[in-house]
Amino acid sequence: MNICVIPGDGIGPEVMAVATDALRRLAPDLTLVEAEAGWGVFQRTGTALPETTLAIARQATAILFGAVASPSYPVPGYRSPIVELRRTLDLYANIRPTTGPGVDLVIVRENTEDLYSGRERLEDDGNTAIAERVITRNASARIVRTACELARTRQTTGHPGKVTIVHKANVLRVSDGLFRTVAFEIAADYPELSFEERLVDVAAMQLAAQPQRFDVIVTTNLFGDILSDIACIHGGGLGVAASSNLGQDRALFEPVHGAAPDIAGRGIANPTAALNCVVMLLDWLNRPQAADHLQRAIAAVATAGICTPDVGGEATTREVADAILEQLTIQP
Ligand code: NAI
Ligand code: MG
Repeated sequence: MNICVIPGDGIGPEVMAVATDALRRLAPDLTLVEAEAGWGVFQRTGTALPETTLAIARQATAILFGAVASPSYPVPGYRSPIVELRRTLDLYANIRPTTGPGVDLVIVRENTEDLYSGRERLEDDGNTAIAERVITRNASARIVRTACELARTRQTTGHPGKVTIVHKANVLRVSDGLFRTVAFEIAADYPELSFEERLVDVAAMQLAAQPQRFDVIVTTNLFGDILSDIACIHGGGLGVAASSNLGQDRALFEPVHGAAPDIAGRGIANPTAALNCVVMLLDWLNRPQAADHLQRAIAAVATAGICTPDVGGEATTREVADAILEQLTIQP
């Protein structure tokens, strides 16, 4: 069984080195196949997501993705490879859990459309830029269904079975209007769950101030991107938060964080988010014992106070990694 590993740019390779060390130890039968994507490969070859990478990703059972650095200005021929991968492989559901004291919530983010459609243009006069926000019935229905199924599964482990539908349909009446309508149509199929709706700005405030009131949040692509960075504060921050991107029979796991150019190369990136991605991958591969073993190792090392500066410690990436790998040598 092949796992495609895409380290990417910045701290991506630093944290993925730790993740692959852990994965090799916990699942030595898996074949890890490394592939390139991002700004670095774009600068060398003129493409951010090479065909060879796509081919490896396509034939892999799952993908582990580090982070890529995408410039915040137009570069001819450059498109964010992670957005491209999600769309090309139809990894339509972005699942972003946060757990912390009193907080246990999951953001389910639509992953293939919305303002990330890539349909942006500058008018001829150069003074007007237009982005098309694409919302479809199909994509809305399947993401809401995914959220409902997740809420139902969580209900069996004591969660309240509550789905919060987040939108901005009071302003985006047509696009989010469609998302909202479809969401409530799907909701009707789940009488055992409770549903509420929130406008995205209020949802952001409540997510910051009262995160414990949420169970499963379902929303469109851009809102989910922003809300998940707010949510992760309650779980230890960006250095900890992991996510899965799920398609019909394929999955990609990636930290919520980006390439962190401000700390890249300094050896202080927190590898926990990347390791939590390995936990998610092992779970998805139906290897709960290995997943649990790694989760316990991560927790034990954090409890011992061996952690990187972003979470208040003084350890380096390598020191945290070595402590966790050491824990993995102890039989569960
Ligand atoms: P970022 O997530 O890379 O960093 C934000 C802040 O969090 C920085 O201060 C960084 O040092 C810190 N941080 C992030 N991950 C950390 C970790 N593991 N350990 C310790 N500190 C960590 O977001 P930013 O700075 O806005 O974007 C940097 C680049 O990353 C941009 O080029 C952006 O396009 C790209 N990016 C890529 C993503 C992806 O590959 N999925 C997601 C988000 C941004
Ligand atoms: Mg983001």
